[in-house]
Amino acid sequence: MLIGLPKEIKNHEYRVGLTPGSVNELIRHGHKVIVETNAGAGIGFSDQDYISAGASIVQTAAEIFKTADMIVKVKEPQPNECAMLREGQILFTYLHLAPDPEQAEALIKSGCVAIAYETVTDRFNRLPLLAPMSEVAGRMSIQAGAHCLEKAQGGRGVLLGGVPGVPPADVLVIGGGVVGTNAIKMAVGMGARVTVLDQSITRLKELDDLFGASLTTVYSTQDALEHYVTRADLVVGAVLVPGAAAPKLIKRDMLKHMRKGAVVVDVAIDQGGCFETSKPTTHAEPTFVVDGVVHYCVANMPGGVARTSSMALNNATLPFVLKLADQGYKVALLNDHHLLNGLNVYHGKVTCRAVADALGKHFSPPEQELLAL
Ligand SMILES: NC(=O)c1ccc[n+]([C@@H]2O[C@H](COP(=O)([O-])OP(=O)(O)OC[C@H]3O[C@@H](n4cnc5c(N)ncnc54)[C@H](O)[C@@H]3O)[C@@H](O)[C@H]2O)c1
Repeated sequence: MLIGLPKEIKNHEYRVGLTPGSVNELIRHGHKVIVETNAGAGIGFSDQDYISAGASIVQTAAEIFKTADMIVKVKEPQPNECAMLREGQILFTYLHLAPDPEQAEALIKSGCVAIAYETVTDRFNRLPLLAPMSEVAGRMSIQAGAHCLEKAQGGRGVLLGGVPGVPPADVLVIGGGVVGTNAIKMAVGMGARVTVLDQSITRLKELDDLFGASLTTVYSTQDALEHYVTRADLVVGAVLVPGAAAPKLIKRDMLKHMRKGAVVVDVAIDQGGCFETSKPTTHAEPTFVVDGVVHYCVANMPGGVARTSSMALNNATLPFVLKLADQGYKVALLNDHHLLNGLNVYHGKVTCRAVADALGKHFSPPEQELLAL
């Protein structure tokens, strides 16, 4: 199969859908890969690295979209990319179609086979192609929070781990899923006093087994939230209610009871955030202050560490890329219902129920469509 890697064109997006290592795996499986010049230049993957891995370099995205059987990307295709997609061409990337009717229409019109990373599942009913980005964001939340706690950033001038003779900072993590667990790991490692709130008692038990006495686990109630938020130096918002906007757990009037210069890293901002006062920010201007509390609400945290994120994403996507290339999309999708859950748009039909419902479109069952065409 001919696989194409275009350079990402979304503002400040430096990640790549295929690292040179992934390209080499595809070449070893007997496939051909074409890479747009400078696709990985922003994160230290040169054209020469891709050539050494076995790829050919082309000068424009148009050449890739014109010839490749499968396009592998990171972000959803932008309008000019959608216009270049062809009937039956495989597009494997993050799509996030539910809130994006224009993109959905463009994909429907193109007739392409659009498989979305974010709806591929695993045998535990989790989302394995979203998890690596949650791991990155969770670990980064403590790094970002520690920086924001410095005086120059508006923070209260507290070192997370303290020093001998001075107590460490209090870190509160709300939501102990993938983001939360990785945040806890970093905060514990830095010597902070860490508390996690979650509504799942099963999850709290698992975290207790994992971290023992270095973590305080508390069942999440409004009372517990108010108690721990007012005593925290750093709060990480990491809740997720699948398919819904993040619940606004911390209301504006609670901020005045928080420590002055405390920091909130609201990782859940991509689902609206769990602080009423949160609003999305960018890596260029990551923070703002409300009632003396520093808010860090970057909606695409993994983009800030694009090299690590690309490698983490590739570790998760490569087995599926290989499967699609080796078997062809029809056999690969019909033989793997987890990959099939990723099929969002197929030859002009919406084949993901959640996306169809969100966009008010007709849902076409994916197996039926695959067997028919
Ligand atoms: N900003 C970014 O760049 C970025 C990157 C990755 C993920 N995220 C977001 O981070 C959030 C968390 O993702 P995740 O992968 O850890 O999800 P997850 O499903 O693994 O974990 C969410 C946890 O929240 C808990 N929860 C739900 N309601 C709660 C409540 N009221 N109180 C306490 N806990 C509650 C759940 O029990 C679960 O353990 C999501 O909104 C995700 O989209 C953001």
